[in-house]
Amino acid sequence: MERESAPMHILNSSQFDRPFLDYICLLTDTIRRFDKSKEGLLYLRGLLAHKRAMLYFTQPSTRTFLSFQTAAQILGMSTNEIRDSATSSERKGESIEDSLQTFSSYVDMIIMRTAVPGLCNRIAAILDESERPVPIINAGSGPDEHPTQALLDIYTLNRSFVRDGGIDGKTIVMVGDLKRGRTIRSLSGLLTNYQDMRIVFVSPTEYKIGDDIRTKLQKANVRFDETDQLQDALTIADAVYMTRVQDEYDTEGESKKVDYSRFHLKFEHLKLMKEKSVIMHPLPRRAELDVAIDADPRAKYWRQERNGMWTRVALLTKIFGVDHKIVLPEL
Ligand code: CP
Repeated sequence: MERESAPMHILNSSQFDRPFLDYICLLTDTIRRFDKSKEGLLYLRGLLAHKRAMLYFTQPSTRTFLSFQTAAQILGMSTNEIRDSATSSERKGESIEDSLQTFSSYVDMIIMRTAVPGLCNRIAAILDESERPVPIINAGSGPDEHPTQALLDIYTLNRSFVRDGGIDGKTIVMVGDLKRGRTIRSLSGLLTNYQDMRIVFVSPTEYKIGDDIRTKLQKANVRFDETDQLQDALTIADAVYMTRVQDEYDTEGESKKVDYSRFHLKFEHLKLMKEKSVIMHPLPRRAELDVAIDADPRAKYWRQERNGMWTRVALLTKIFGVDHKIVLPEL
């Protein structure tokens, strides 16, 4: 049987360049305007009504799962889901590769969250050689990558700085468990596409960024610093990106031995920050982000969450080649 051509997979943040990021931001801005009218929403619902998506989420998720599911529904797609491999034939010994190839028999796209780094890339390569290659979207792969989170983070930063020169030239402070935080890796990668960036990584010694991130930033000539002094970093931040401790990757409860409280953003820290800075968090949060901060206009994390849904709508239209049906404004 003749093979279909290779689909557009979303696997790693390194696959995106600046023109793509600018395009997705503009596409997302345009698409969300359709939400303002019944006609607009009905138009969107017709765009992919002939497509089906599988959501295979074997690691816990609230917002990535729901925002992808809702994004698919906004475009008229139907969705199926598996959220626990114990309920699939993996329980009977089927390999994960065979399970995912099975999904490709029924659907037009697989959106997957897994604890296994590199699995999405492996599955995409297998399916590309199969009779029915379908797009694979990495919705979070262990401590490795979360490329669509990074896209929505870029969109949120872009919107936040739209009247202030955009993302170029900004100082982004990333705080927390930077060693095991996949959002940190993916966002740091995307920031290499911008000019004159400075990134300040704030973490306990135990959770400093990995060498892969350092090498990527050095190669791209992105200025970066590493420190454990949160309060100093806050004073220079245009954006603060908070993250929780990723203790699901502990092997022997080692996180309990780390004093994470020094990496909590507290209400009293707000006075140290610039008036126009923004506070982001991929969520879910724990104590590292004081709930009292929610009322501050610099807090963008709830908006960030909703931006995720619209960014994913834009991405789905691009993957299935219907983005040209969204008329973009002249630049
Ligand atoms: N930000 C994020 O990935 O959240 P969930 O784990 O709830 O999907």
